[in-house]
Amino acid sequence: MDVYGLIGNPVGHSLSPPMHKAGYEALGLDARYVTFEPPKEGAVAAIEGADALGVAGLNVTIPFKQDALDAVDPDPLAERIGAVNTVDFTGEGRPAGYNTDAVGAVRALRSHDVDLSGTAVVVGAGGAGRAVAFGLADEGMPVRIANRTESKARDLAAEVPDATGHGLDDLGELLADADVLVNATSVGMEEDATPVPAEALHGDLAVLDAVYRPLETRLLRDASEAGATTVDGAWMLLYQGVEAFERWTGEVAPVDAMNDALRAEL
Ligand code: ATR
Repeated sequence: MDVYGLIGNPVGHSLSPPMHKAGYEALGLDARYVTFEPPKEGAVAAIEGADALGVAGLNVTIPFKQDALDAVDPDPLAERIGAVNTVDFTGEGRPAGYNTDAVGAVRALRSHDVDLSGTAVVVGAGGAGRAVAFGLADEGMPVRIANRTESKARDLAAEVPDATGHGLDDLGELLADADVLVNATSVGMEEDATPVPAEALHGDLAVLDAVYRPLETRLLRDASEAGATTVDGAWMLLYQGVEAFERWTGEVAPVDAMNDALRAEL
C-alpha cells in the first residue's frame, strides 16, 4: 500500500483526503491519504521523517510551504515562487518539490476553455497571489498585480517576468483590456464582499476566484452578471490536487471522481 499525506498546522479542515481517496478508488489503487500536524517549526523534520518511513508523497500547506524548500529539490517554478506544496519521494537523494497551486490555477482556467494568450490581472500579493502570478507568467501572460498594500504588489511584480504592480484603485483601468482576472485575496471568504468594483467587470473576462467558501462569491456573482466566464475556487483546489496526484502516481487523474468528492464537501 502507498501512503500519501498532508502536513499542515492546523490541518483538520482539509478537503484533500476525500478528494485523493476518491481518485485512488476510481483507479483501483491500493493507497491511503493521511493528514499530519507537526509543530510549526517542523517542516524539514516532518519531510525527512516521512521519507524515512517510506511515505510516497506529501502535500504541504500553511505554515510549512516556504520551509519545505529546505528539504527538497524544487523544480524551477517552485523555486521562483519560493514555496512547495507537493513533495514526491523518489527513493533516491532529496525528494522532488513542486508548487501545484500555480499549476492548479492554470489548469482550472484551461478546464473552462479559457484562452491564456492575453493579459492577466491578479488581485492579491500574498502566498496565493505569488503562486498564481508566477503560474500565469509561466504561460507567457503579461501579469498585472493589484494589491491593497501597493508596495507588496510592486515588490512581487519586480520578481515576475513581464509584470507590473498596482494599488486596487487601478483595477478599473487594468481590467478594461484584460482577459483573465484572478482573485487571490481572502476577500469574499465567509462574507459577501469583493475586492473588485462590479463596474470594472465585462463580458470578455474570465474570472477565477481562489476563494471556495462560499463557492459563489460576490465577485463571481458580479462577473456572471457582467457576462464573464466564471471559474469557482473549487476548480483551483481540484487541479492542484489533480496535478499532485498525477506526479505521484504517474497516472492520468480521474478528475470527475475527484471533483465530485470535493464538491460533496462544500
Ligand atoms: P494567502 O497566503 O492566502 O495569499 P496572505 O499571504 O495573508 O494569504 O495574503 C492575503 C492577501 O489578501 C493579501 O494580498 C492581502 O492584502 P495586503 O497585502 O494589503 O494585506 C489581501 N487582503 C486581505 N484582506 C483584504 C481586504 N479586506 N481588502 C483587500 N485585500 C485584502
